[in-house]
Amino acid sequence: MSLLGITTNGKIGLGLVALAFIAFALVSSFVLPRRNPDFPGRRLGAYLAVATLLFVAMLAAVVVFAKESEEAGGAEVTETSDEPEETQTGTTTETETGGETETGTATGGAAGDAAAGEAVFASAGCGGCHTLEAAGSSGNIGPNLDESQPDAALVEQRVRNGAGAMPAFEDDLDDKQIADVTAFVVASTSG
Ligand code: HEC
Repeated sequence: MSLLGITTNGKIGLGLVALAFIAFALVSSFVLPRRNPDFPGRRLGAYLAVATLLFVAMLAAVVVFAKESEEAGGAEVTETSDEPEETQTGTTTETETGGETETGTATGGAAGDAAAGEAVFASAGCGGCHTLEAAGSSGNIGPNLDESQPDAALVEQRVRNGAGAMPAFEDDLDDKQIADVTAFVVASTSG
């Protein structure tokens, strides 16, 4: 295993454990025997235990820090290779979506789609109050739209704001749905 692949933290950790090991070896071979010629004497068991512990700690440190540096290295490589791809994808998607949204709004604002408006007329429950032959409805709470033949401005105004017993649909329907249902009512009554 090469020391070059180990992270700075790993090197410091390894160094500290190695330093403890070396200090222990020096102290027990030079300092302690001079103070106590019998060393380790009756404490041989404890001495061996400490020596074994340090040995295991050294091995563990090598395994742990080397593994850590492998993982860190792997993660860095992955991040670097991912970033450019993500950026490209994001930019492309945004551009496409923006284009589509603009086109859709422009179409809906300019003129409603009468075919789509038939579904809005049905789902909004207009037929419950209005008779409209094209929608197959026969409600009689509001005016018979086949007879009153409202123009686009009146339909949109009534749908948005309501009037009398007719509720406002501004909050339930979006601009496109209002334009569509307006186109449907006008197209199926004025022709
Ligand atoms: C709860 C019953 C009710 C519902 C639901 C309803 N309306 Fe009306 N609508 C009325 C009534 C009542 C009027 C008459 C309001 C007034 O002029 O006082 C009216 C008026 C209108 C008018 C004007 C007609 C005219 O010639 O004066 C149009 C257009 C119209 N509604 C379209 C719609 C559409 C489209 C929907 C569905 C999005 C709808 N209405 C849902 C009750 C309803």
